[in-house]
Amino acid sequence: MKNITVIGTGYVGLVSGAGISDFGHAVSCVDIDESKIASLKNGDIPIYEQGLESLVKRNVVAKRLSFSSDVPNAIEAADVVFIAVGTPQDENGNADISAVLKVAETIGLSLNGYKVICTKSTVPIGTGRKVIEAIKENSDASVSFDYVSNPEFLREGAAVRDFTHPDRVVIGAESQKAFDFMKDVYHPLYVNETPVIHTNIETAEMIKYASNAFLALKISYINEIANVCEEVGADVFKVAQAMGLDGRISPKFLHPGPGYGGSCFPKDTKALASQAEAAGVPLKTIQGAIDANSHQHSRMVDKLRILLDGSFEGKTIAVLGLSFKPGTDDVRESPSISMITALLNESASVQAYDPVSNENMTKFFSNISYKNSVYDAVKDADAAVIMTDWNEFRSMDIPRIKSLMKTPIFLDTRNILNTSELEDTGIVYDNVGRKRRTDS
Ligand code: UGA
Repeated sequence: MKNITVIGTGYVGLVSGAGISDFGHAVSCVDIDESKIASLKNGDIPIYEQGLESLVKRNVVAKRLSFSSDVPNAIEAADVVFIAVGTPQDENGNADISAVLKVAETIGLSLNGYKVICTKSTVPIGTGRKVIEAIKENSDASVSFDYVSNPEFLREGAAVRDFTHPDRVVIGAESQKAFDFMKDVYHPLYVNETPVIHTNIETAEMIKYASNAFLALKISYINEIANVCEEVGADVFKVAQAMGLDGRISPKFLHPGPGYGGSCFPKDTKALASQAEAAGVPLKTIQGAIDANSHQHSRMVDKLRILLDGSFEGKTIAVLGLSFKPGTDDVRESPSISMITALLNESASVQAYDPVSNENMTKFFSNISYKNSVYDAVKDADAAVIMTDWNEFRSMDIPRIKSLMKTPIFLDTRNILNTSELEDTGIVYDNVGRKRRTDS
């Protein structure tokens, strides 16, 4: 059993802290945001993440998990300190690591004996060395520590499962002692024979970016193939299905859509491209994926405009789904944001509905009408657009929707509706890379 401190109680920190406590360690999750800590102590989970509430509760009751805003004290008590603070994008597309370096300073000032300091936040390659320097500059030379890069591969909405059942664990550790500490932290995963990749610090940092950028590239690739399918009469659904059966390709991340969003892919692809450019080795494939993604967002707006005979002016549009994907209330970089922005810029009014994200979207748009059901959202609408593949949209009552809408026009950017049913119900529709019906 190790004493663990996790600094930062966002998605990564909270899931990791709760997950590590479930492995049997004593974990203190800390944050400088006192109100966040107060609500966590109260049992309130600040994010919507499947399974997280019960995981936290179970480990708090077992006294393995606690919360504190006394960061120095929690560092002093720890064998391993995880850094899991945010690395937002700066104005040049780079990841802003100032919060990570600030934490490194605090760790240096509180270093009272050997500890492993481990970064979980996604940080540009080379950040580990800067963290080591910042700790050294602020600590007593007689106290030793080791630094480890241990990137996370958690998907929002499936983060708890991804933490407890990862495909692999990456440990960038340059001393055997630090590697052994980390082996101890992840002991249950060792028992389950989860592959562990032991690397140097830079390699671990790169693995995270290379993985996310590859997945983003895969999405942009299938989106572009879908766009060509539309022009040549092919069905992207069948194309992706057949491609995915090739074990070298795999069926995952081959779902065409409105373009990827979220707090990771847009930021990480830009950060990697920008770092590669600065290093004199531009990543043309990743830059292509970034450009294709931005084009995909605007292509969805163009598709809807075509369905409405070229203009949004004075039209009422039902936007179904606001989060960047189902299973989360996160709307950061969601394709629905670019859609709603275009609609408002072109004088349409928006009736939006999301099962869990209406409130989060009010921070971006206060001037749209938020509804409590699909049926309220489509009432009297000139068109409806599905932006998120929530399950409840798959089983909508299409004839009822048709009767509620002013004109039965649908853009399905996630390809979740049954095109035969849309045909039979007399709905004008378009989607991504499949058969469409653009005239009534
Ligand atoms: C992503 C990675 O999948 C995680 O492994 C990683 O840990 C995480 O970023 C991170 O860096 O923290 P996440 O952003 O939660 O996870 O979401 P994904 O499930 O990867 O989806 C990202 C976007 O791609 C969504 O907008 C989704 O709708 C879109 N997508 C995904 C597609 O358009 N098509 C697909 O086939 C898959």
